[in-house]
Amino acid sequence: MTRIAVFASGSGSNAEKIIRYFQQHPAIRVSWVLTNNPNAGVIGRAKALHVPCHLFDRRQFRETTAVVEFLKSEKIDLVVLAGFLWLVPANLIDAFHGRIINIHPALLPQFGGKGFYGEHVHRAVIESGQPISGITVHAVNEQFDSGDILFQAACHVDRSDNADQLALKIHALEHRYFPVVIEKLIESGLPIPDSRA
Ligand code: GAR
Repeated sequence: MTRIAVFASGSGSNAEKIIRYFQQHPAIRVSWVLTNNPNAGVIGRAKALHVPCHLFDRRQFRETTAVVEFLKSEKIDLVVLAGFLWLVPANLIDAFHGRIINIHPALLPQFGGKGFYGEHVHRAVIESGQPISGITVHAVNEQFDSGDILFQAACHVDRSDNADQLALKIHALEHRYFPVVIEKLIESGLPIPDSRA
């Protein structure tokens, strides 16, 4: 069984889709949800789906190896960041090389980097006048949004779209594609090969 840990900081709609997608899967399971936010909606969603949730704080994440030790003790094979907003520290990147992926709500390399998350991304896309946006699944390294791009899907940005309307389109793409992309990456073999290796 390939064991996934999903990290999320907020609502957790992607986490829920991923959990549901693999619930009946013969070889892949979401074993844990991890969050830094004790008020995150993802906690209730995970509970309702009988997936345990592990809460950690900034100090544990950045200044200790507690999270890495937890993931190792739970024999996690793949870490999936689904709306997780903290930069991943070197100890976790090193311990899970080729085994951490993130979803970003725009077409990287545009509209990525520090400060580009959630609605900030959608506002920037609309202000830029770009006629398309989309989603990017990418490998995670020590900088925001700069690892190898593994998958992208696009949608139209209508002139009348506001950030909330664009967010709905982006979430629809994420929910449709992210679980399938995770499945395909696992089937292709972990760790995910690094293009710079
Ligand atoms: C998603 O749209 C995800 O792409 C984005 O946060 C949202 C979380 O939604 N992630 C980032 O912006 C990371 N830079 P959810 O909590 O409903 O899954």
